[in-house]
Amino acid sequence: MTQLTHTDPGGTPNRSLVHEDWDALTFKVHRSAYRSPALFQKEMSRIWGHTWLYLGHETEIPNPGDFKSRTLGGRPLIFCRDSSGKIQVFFNACTHRGTVLCRHSEGNTKFFQCFYHAWAFSNSGELAALPGDEAYADVPGFKERHRLRSVPRVDSHEGFVFIAFDPDVPDLQTHLGEAAHYMSLTAKIGPQGMQTVPGVQLYSVKGNWKLAVENAMDGYHFAPTHNTFVGYLRETGFAVTDDDQYAYDLGDGHGLLILTGHNGRIGMVWEPRFGEGEKERTAAKRQEMEERLGKELAAEVADASRILFVFPNLLLFDLEALTIRQIEPVEAGRTDVRAWQFVETGEPDEVRALRIKTMVSFVGPGGLATPDDIEAYEAVQRGIEATADSADPAYDWSDMSRGMANEKQGNQGRSIDEGAMRSFWRQWSRRVEGDGTPGA
Ligand code: FES
Ligand SMILES: [Fe+2]
Repeated sequence: MTQLTHTDPGGTPNRSLVHEDWDALTFKVHRSAYRSPALFQKEMSRIWGHTWLYLGHETEIPNPGDFKSRTLGGRPLIFCRDSSGKIQVFFNACTHRGTVLCRHSEGNTKFFQCFYHAWAFSNSGELAALPGDEAYADVPGFKERHRLRSVPRVDSHEGFVFIAFDPDVPDLQTHLGEAAHYMSLTAKIGPQGMQTVPGVQLYSVKGNWKLAVENAMDGYHFAPTHNTFVGYLRETGFAVTDDDQYAYDLGDGHGLLILTGHNGRIGMVWEPRFGEGEKERTAAKRQEMEERLGKELAAEVADASRILFVFPNLLLFDLEALTIRQIEPVEAGRTDVRAWQFVETGEPDEVRALRIKTMVSFVGPGGLATPDDIEAYEAVQRGIEATADSADPAYDWSDMSRGMANEKQGNQGRSIDEGAMRSFWRQWSRRVEGDGTPGA
């Protein structure tokens, strides 16, 4: 993985909205990047329109006929498993005149029927029936031409399903690069595999989507923003420390925090708040993991907590419990977030209950962390209005230079610095301010 240093090969484009200067050790982002509707449209086109996007996990639709409707990059989609068991992803728009076809958020069906003129499509996309079809009878190939439109690219890694609206994007593994390895580590936790828990936590934030990314890649805010949670951990006998925690640039905008100081991990690293019963099970599970994966890989999977960001819309929290978070920009100042609990398939009921309780108590929408985080990024969105069109243009920039001096000396960037955010913004700038392609 790439060290976060000033020699980072990602380049330093001093473009209009992202300024980076390693002589002056400054890195700043113009606040219009969070506010501008025009820029938002550009992001939808240049990022969301031309890269892989996380859609969902294949265990969300385990049975033939299962479907979820979901919106990515503003486009309504149907994510389903057809009757033969194959995963299909369709644009959720009737091929007749474009009406949203599936109006349910989830379910199981053999057919999707449009409410407007009642055209019906099979779960593999064929136009199966249309009322009064004798009026179309003389037109050859009509039904074939009006099958449901599939998104151009669908691929998956370890059950994580991604789509791309641009048929010419590089393959998924190329896009994921080093991030694929860290997704695989999480996927290896359970001897019988991993799955999402049915149900989704959906919430809407009055803030720009990039603030959600920054917040997840920002260890600097952990102690001050979440001091209630830190106090709770200390009271339960768990030492929280920011030492030896690092940030990594995984290339192409993907980022990783490896956290050793916040490290109770269900089934992997025991701590008192998990209860005595878990202590023994954790030791047994570690042995199982070592036998299955080998000592070294088991240690990499189990020992440290990780927060992985896969550019541009997936966050994988592999902490005391596991959660998948998907970011969907709605407008410049609004973002929808979906979160799923990610669990070991076949684990005992009491462990499942502990895992869910532990996760929702911290990063759930009503937990000890996420409401603080949402308040932080909504407060940023409100606060940056103050300096818009300011008489002194210097007021309208946000600083992200923390840790540059350390990185310039060739040291690994720390999670409590702002290097992971800088990597993200460099990629953002390449995409949005370059010619729209990564590395341009
Ligand atoms: S728009 Fe769907 S059947 Fe007419
Ligand atoms: Fe936080």
